[in-house]
Amino acid sequence: METFTIEGGRPLSGTLRIHGAKNAALPILAATVLAEGQFHIYDVPHLKDIDVMLQILTALGAKASHVDGCVSLDTTSISVTHVPDDLMGLMRSSIFLMGPLLSRFGEVTISRPGGCVIGERRIDLHLSGLTALGAKIEEVDGYTTFRTKQLRGNNIFLSFPSVGATENLMMAAVLAKGTTRICNAAREPEIVDLQSFLNAMGARVRGAGSDTIEIVGVPRLRTVSYRIIPDRIVTGTHVLAVGVAQGHIQLTNTMPEHLTALIEIARNCGVEIKTYHDIMEIKSTTRPRAIDRIITQPFPGFPTDLQAQMMVFLAQARGISMIKETIFEGRFKHVNELTRMGASIFVDLGTAFIRGVNKLYGAAVEATDLRAGAALVLAGLGAEGVTTIEQVHHIDRGYERLEWQLQQLGADIQRTTSIS
Ligand code: EPZ
Repeated sequence: METFTIEGGRPLSGTLRIHGAKNAALPILAATVLAEGQFHIYDVPHLKDIDVMLQILTALGAKASHVDGCVSLDTTSISVTHVPDDLMGLMRSSIFLMGPLLSRFGEVTISRPGGCVIGERRIDLHLSGLTALGAKIEEVDGYTTFRTKQLRGNNIFLSFPSVGATENLMMAAVLAKGTTRICNAAREPEIVDLQSFLNAMGARVRGAGSDTIEIVGVPRLRTVSYRIIPDRIVTGTHVLAVGVAQGHIQLTNTMPEHLTALIEIARNCGVEIKTYHDIMEIKSTTRPRAIDRIITQPFPGFPTDLQAQMMVFLAQARGISMIKETIFEGRFKHVNELTRMGASIFVDLGTAFIRGVNKLYGAAVEATDLRAGAALVLAGLGAEGVTTIEQVHHIDRGYERLEWQLQQLGADIQRTTSIS
């Protein structure tokens, strides 16, 4: 088991380059199934979820390597259309294989996807969208199989702007006969990156970043080389780390335009943030001011993936704040652990009421999911005394060696591995 040990109370300083975005890389790696040949994808972070995606592609027949951030893939010999159950269950993004496999082979079989336990995480929008494109669904013994002779373009309305469903349906529609319009589509930057990747392959996709995406089907796609956008959630996590531990840092390889909601709120709470092209300079020397209300929303609203980290920031603010989580119903698991560190937080009906305290205190806590774990790291950086965090494998799913990243910024954080 792996543990982080953090000696809190040290202001951060230094410069860090932000790595590529997990949530852009995962659908883009799945999209390589849509063409046969050699791909080179750059700035792919070394994370557990990326490893699992490469294991899935290999199990389907691809050849894959991942060296210094570059993923090299040969998809020529992919022939399997049943995603291995054990790998399916390891992460939510395994569902991204449905669209590409169905497009290329006319068949795909999956079991239930896994992922962070932050809510029910239904997949009905994925299934109904693929059906709307002409696939026939069969659900037997926990397996879902889709078959089709040829997918056909259609108009699809998403009852919720689901990120994954939008991406899956884009990948299903690019080789379909005719035109597909996805209405009420998710607008996240990772979807724009997927559109750029698909169009580089020869697809005809437009509208990503807006609520309507149009895909004109083409007969075939080609392999490409491509670079992934920076990870906006990792960037936001470091912005809030300065807000919690104070100090003055510089982040490079960022896209500040992907973080307007966070930047606005952090500035209102007293954090100094300057941006210049792909550089962000963040400075904080005092306890933050509280903020009346934050509501997590689909992009460009405040992202649910920064909710836990923001809660830590507000837990030691001057005043009372409120955070309403509207995306995932089970995403407050970090509250109990923060309470053990001295935070004063009351949760009722999906809303957290946070009374800022002067400081948090080091304690032995446990990561319950990816972003909750990252939030506990931030809490340890700002707390008085030593914090130990168990189950850090959750954090490794979304942050490439987070302890190394923070050591570059002057934090006292160590990873220890025990046999038990
Ligand atoms: C993506 O998950 C991200 N994961 C999540 O990041 C992120 O929190 C989420 O989008 C929201 O921004 C990846 O991109 C790999 P959704 P996804 O489909 O696609 C409901 C992280 O920490 N829904 O937009 O699973 C669902 O239950 C991870 O990096 C349906 O009801 O998110 C949820 O309440 C966590 N039916 C809401 O929509 C469906 O068919 C948002 O889900 C699909 C989703």
